[in-house]
Amino acid sequence: MRIALLTSGGDAPGMNAAIRAATLAGIAAGCEVFGVMRGYRGLLDGSFVPMCATDVAGIARDGGTVLGSSRCRDMLHTDGREQARAVLASRGIEGVVVIGGNGSLAGANALAEHPGGPRVVGVPASIDNDIGHTRASIGADTALNTIVDACDKIADTATAHGRVFLVEVMGRDCGYLANAAAIAVEADAALVPEANLTPHEIIDAVVSTICASTRKRVIIIVAEGVRTHTEELAREVDARLRAMHGPNALETRATVLGHVVRGGRPSAFDRLLGDNLGDAAARAIASGATRVMTAWSPPIDLVDIEAAIHPARTPHPRRPRPTAT
Ligand code: F6P
Repeated sequence: MRIALLTSGGDAPGMNAAIRAATLAGIAAGCEVFGVMRGYRGLLDGSFVPMCATDVAGIARDGGTVLGSSRCRDMLHTDGREQARAVLASRGIEGVVVIGGNGSLAGANALAEHPGGPRVVGVPASIDNDIGHTRASIGADTALNTIVDACDKIADTATAHGRVFLVEVMGRDCGYLANAAAIAVEADAALVPEANLTPHEIIDAVVSTICASTRKRVIIIVAEGVRTHTEELAREVDARLRAMHGPNALETRATVLGHVVRGGRPSAFDRLLGDNLGDAAARAIASGATRVMTAWSPPIDLVDIEAAIHPARTPHPRRPRPTAT
């Protein structure tokens, strides 16, 4: 069986670990494995490369994706998906592992739903952590650590000058990164799109957070999906504070972390997550699964835990306990 792997949408640290594991698991299952360059764009252009174990050796520690990625609008249309199916069929490729976020996985589903379409298995990868049915998507942990690192640095200068910092982070329409980072760096507040505040309410919330703070510095993490322009928000907050407290009011600065949040070497957690989910995806596709996504499953009932203890982690076979007399 021939299978293809592609990474699509925003790259996420840990994608390479998933590519490596899927390649190795695919080969171990007897498949011929191909990498598709530049995501769905490369699929439509017929840009395939054969993958063997040496091609993926040592890549798990690298950020980005060795296969490249794209946001391919053609896959939103029936014509594009038909062309993709034709390209795969002409190369005898029966299964595709799609590593990406919500849009990429929706594309994967649409590709497979057509009778005669390829088998498709998705691997959730997005720094935004906005994919349902998995506790974490590949890349979110590294992105969170990058934000925490940046905020720790900002905190130094914020404290030195006694300033307010609004730090904007990626996350599309999801407040996960902003919220989690705010907790980790003990920020004063997080502004997230889920709160659905109007621009006016946002200014009020920021000003009252600053006025209520008892610390030398104020850090507020702003998710990019919030309905405001962070630099403009900083100017408006500054003006309000000066109007209230005169020229000695705290000064406000904005820092937009942007694409820095998406780069860098993956954390150990993202390497392991990529490895597990990539491995499971290739094994699933080789065993006939289609239109499924590998996932980090939610917690299980406490009553099931004893039964679920892995034998390797059980210290010793239980000895009979002495009975109390
Ligand atoms: O989905 C990942 C992500 O980094 C989002 O957080 C962000 O909104 C978007 O991609 C940016 O996309 P692009 O790199 O295409 O501008």
